Amino acid sequence: MNILVTGGAGYIGSHTVVELQKAGHMVAIVDDLSNAKANVIDSIQQITGIRPAFFQIDCADKNALRTVFEQHPVDAVIHFAGFKAVGESVKKPLAYYRNNLDSTLTLLEVMEEFGCKKFIFSSSATVYGPNNPYPYKEEMPAIQSSSPYGWTKVMIERILTDYTTAHPDFCAVLLRYFNPIGSHESGLLGDDPNGIPNNLMPYITRVAAGQLEKLTIFGDDYPTPDGTCLRDYLHVVDLAVGHLKALEYAVKHLGVEAVNLGTGQGVSVLELVHAFKQANGIQLPYVIGPRRDGDLPAFWADAEKAKNLLGWEAMHSIEDMCKSAWEFAKKK
Ligand code: WQD
Repeated sequence: MNILVTGGAGYIGSHTVVELQKAGHMVAIVDDLSNAKANVIDSIQQITGIRPAFFQIDCADKNALRTVFEQHPVDAVIHFAGFKAVGESVKKPLAYYRNNLDSTLTLLEVMEEFGCKKFIFSSSATVYGPNNPYPYKEEMPAIQSSSPYGWTKVMIERILTDYTTAHPDFCAVLLRYFNPIGSHESGLLGDDPNGIPNNLMPYITRVAAGQLEKLTIFGDDYPTPDGTCLRDYLHVVDLAVGHLKALEYAVKHLGVEAVNLGTGQGVSVLELVHAFKQANGIQLPYVIGPRRDGDLPAFWADAEKAKNLLGWEAMHSIEDMCKSAWEFAKKK
């Protein structure tokens, strides 16, 4: 199939493009490179031997997006493009609402013009908000979040649900990611955020590489076994394969489906730090600091629906995630 991947030069997007090409799909990437580097396209080609078509455009630019659809047949879209820094979204809500909503609305309008009816959306566990019991199940209310970034995911899920109601021949799969970490085995792709990382694993690898002095663990007084927060960490390659499975589902079905992509296991910050040190045989200096605003003590996925509906489950271990993350960081 011909797949358009928006944000395909990003961390999860690039790993997904590799899996799509390995499965024989033709991929075109649209990315404005606001949070990704152009050499990722070279890395994808190095891994798969196939260079995806690449358009450096903003998804909200309707005319530019139309030229992509005119030059490349598009059977389905996987939509990653969007701003995604939780803290930044609190400081710049308008930028997040404008960018994340505009790009999605424009994409849907152009898809309609060209008769493209399959949409895989990069959603997030953040849509479950702070009040649902964990493990999170898809039928739980996913109607609030704790940041403008998270609210854009709630709103885009709503847009896709209403659009699918109005267009019964459309299919949208809303993939709710938990915490993706790790890298492709080649060490050529990985989580390489601009500036100081907000997320745990890229911060850990920068400390391990000596680029940052030490890790600060945000609080060890939570009501959890070791006092640090629990999260559902999954390997980014497993997550990428989940998109391939969602695409295969969307081709044969109609309507809208939300699906968790997680392992179904909670792992603490301290457990991940120790696993990283153990897997890579290196020291990792850390201190315990104050809690970070907005952090929830614990959540993880109920992963049953992905297994039953998509035939997908996470296969990689925490050790694989830690080793691969370090392999990528060492090569940078
Ligand atoms: C994990 C744990 C921190 C950094 C976020 C977004 C979510 C999704 C994934 C986009 C927490 C602790 C972290 C550090 C630390 N992003 N931590 N020191 O917050 O679960 O989820 O990223 O879709 O929407 O909310 O991930 O990696 O930021 O934090 O102690 O320097 O690590 O307190 O408990 P999080 P995270």
